[in-house]
Amino acid sequence: MAGSLFDEECDYLFKMVLIGDSAVGKSNLLSRFAKDEFRLDSKPTIGVEFAYRNVKIKDKIAKAQIWDTAGQERFRAITSSYYRGALGAMLVYDITRRVTFENLRKWLHELREYGNRDMVIILVGNKSDLVDAREVKAEDGQSLAQLEDLCFMETSAKENLNVEDAFLQMITKIFEIASQKSLEAKEKEPTKQALDGRKEIIYVVDEVSATKQTNCCTS
Ligand code: GTP
Ligand code: MG
Repeated sequence: MAGSLFDEECDYLFKMVLIGDSAVGKSNLLSRFAKDEFRLDSKPTIGVEFAYRNVKIKDKIAKAQIWDTAGQERFRAITSSYYRGALGAMLVYDITRRVTFENLRKWLHELREYGNRDMVIILVGNKSDLVDAREVKAEDGQSLAQLEDLCFMETSAKENLNVEDAFLQMITKIFEIASQKSLEAKEKEPTKQALDGRKEIIYVVDEVSATKQTNCCTS
């Protein structure tokens, strides 16, 4: 397993999750981003699936590990393990079904309950190609995103519109936060090493291991 997770060229490993109602297009967004594939006849996801893609940001390579689960409650795997360690979440609704937008409340609630507090969240209104069937205005998505302090984008997995941008925006934000954190940890280290109290030493060890979770190849 370690072999598939940590390839030599990767500087960071970022776990991200997809959430949202059934049939909003989560699995197709993921297959479009990871493999440039789309299926009109895709089946509902059962349990958890995931895919990877390496992304170059500045002079670093981040391995995006994106988890996808069922929108349907009865097909979902254990929720807490799905969210554990995730640095980003893509919250998806279908612009042609108002109910999937209304249900975002429920998904946001779950995110707050299980997700990391400084997780990067992007709200995605998918199926923007189905112009005539639209039930949710872009402005509605935008206002909710503003209210909840999220990024927002409309996408079409079918027509490959904004899919790359949405994932890249999330990955870049995570990268910025992770590099800021490792910078802060490095800056703190010399002063902490000078301290000889047992409490401080334990704190240093904790901090270094926390940094390593997001930083898979550099040490
Ligand atoms: P669950 O796994 O049940 O949670 O569903 P899901 O959110 O993964 O949805 P999935 O990706 O399986 O897509 C559901 C249906 O919507 C499929 O028939 C897809 O072909 C279709 N679909 C997904 N994205 C788009 C899109 O951007 N435009 C259009 N027109 N159809 C889409
Ligand atoms: Mg699915």
